[in-house]
Amino acid sequence: MSHVYISHSSDDLDALLEIHESLRMAAIPDWYAPNDKDDRAAADQAIDDAFAMIVLVSASSVRSKTVRADVTRAKARNLRLIPFQIDKARLNGFFKHEVQPHLRLSSTMPDGTRQLVAEVQAAYKRKCPVLAVMNLKGGVGKTTISSQVFGAWQSALGGRVLLVDLDPQYNLTQAFFDMEYADASAAADRSVISLFERSRLHARDVVSPGERWLSLSTEPFAAVPRAELVHDLMGEDSPGGRLDLISGQFEISKYAFASDAAALDKVKSQFLRMIDHYRSDYDLIVFDTNPNATFLTRCALEAADRVLAPMHPDIYSLRGVRLLNHVIEEQVEAGKRPALSVLFNAVGRSEQSTFEADARNGAYDAKAGFALSKALLKSALPRSGHLVVKAPKEGEPPWKQLLIHSGRGGGLKAIRESLKTIGMELKALVEA
Ligand SMILES: Nc1ncnc2c1ncn2[C@@H]1O[C@H](COP(=O)(O)OP(=O)(O)OP(=O)(O)O)[C@@H](O)[C@H]1O
Ligand SMILES: [Mg+2]
Repeated sequence: MSHVYISHSSDDLDALLEIHESLRMAAIPDWYAPNDKDDRAAADQAIDDAFAMIVLVSASSVRSKTVRADVTRAKARNLRLIPFQIDKARLNGFFKHEVQPHLRLSSTMPDGTRQLVAEVQAAYKRKCPVLAVMNLKGGVGKTTISSQVFGAWQSALGGRVLLVDLDPQYNLTQAFFDMEYADASAAADRSVISLFERSRLHARDVVSPGERWLSLSTEPFAAVPRAELVHDLMGEDSPGGRLDLISGQFEISKYAFASDAAALDKVKSQFLRMIDHYRSDYDLIVFDTNPNATFLTRCALEAADRVLAPMHPDIYSLRGVRLLNHVIEEQVEAGKRPALSVLFNAVGRSEQSTFEADARNGAYDAKAGFALSKALLKSALPRSGHLVVKAPKEGEPPWKQLLIHSGRGGGLKAIRESLKTIGMELKALVEA
């Protein structure tokens, strides 16, 4: 669990609580020392777990030993400092040296608190980027890439990765679990629908939203702890690390039939809030998405910082990418649009590599309607029999479905290298 740490003096309670409330409204977890206790060990631990530190700059915080200890530890850990001036404090030498270089915001600025929240939110998003694997064409490898590339990322590059199955066909879930397990999870609402609507995970006395086809629940709900919602794909005897899945289900196709725009809007806001909430538990969140433009596409696009579009080296896939870019530009407000990267998938050695070479040279930019040649990842995923989906074998743990951890046969080494190389290129992009 990661949070923003608020360093404050015990005299600044009003300002502290106001900021805490604004962060809560933005679904950003925070941590601050309880007013009546000076527990240095707890504070140090909270700083080590934080993704950024807000420092309340005031006449009393300048004199506070606690604040000085907080800032010193943050500096030693290279933690991002976001100071916020709340009165006309005269800065001492320590503050001038350590805090002032970062000080840009104050409570006297119009919109000061809102700007503070926006800055914290940007740091929070950078900590855990959200990536949507999407193409408005079916069968181009979205699900294969969601599992195999990001399984390899987690294994080779570390970090905690969450996969979310946003496709009502729920193939990603079936790549790891048998249908019985997937459907039992959906029946208990331990599945993706619990990101959109209040479900049996949130309260015992509700009817599952998966059973209510004709109505949408707009009642607000609080996020359940991660472990109650996700499925751990690594488990016992695995090579370790955190790779989790929020399993999919057919029932989320109900949103495509709903006509109450106001209710859909609330359902979408809940989804965005939940994704923001679970960012604190992960370093990367990946959506596998459905191939047609629906309400779910809009949700994914609004939550994502980047879209990764797999593309076959052919003209039909090109059309899917063109439509996708069009949908992003038409449907998502400027300033909130995710960046678009395109990955060639299932590239054979023969004639199709000409298509790839031409695309890289810009020959298809006009047809794509955007600078496809610039959006293309340098690495590509070759066509390989190893990547053809197989249903999980009975009794085999989910992580064994990942090529990075399992399988034998010629060419596997090369495929693993490709998967890792794509992961590294993407990581550099999302962290830039
Ligand atoms: N690089 C590859 N080499 C060989 N087969 C591949 C490769 N990538 C994907 N496939 C196979 O192509 C088929 C379609 O892939 P996948 O299900 O990942 O596509 P998708 O875009 O998720 O499809 P949908 O739009 O239905 O969700 C699967 O059988 C998969 O195993
Ligand atoms: Mg798929």
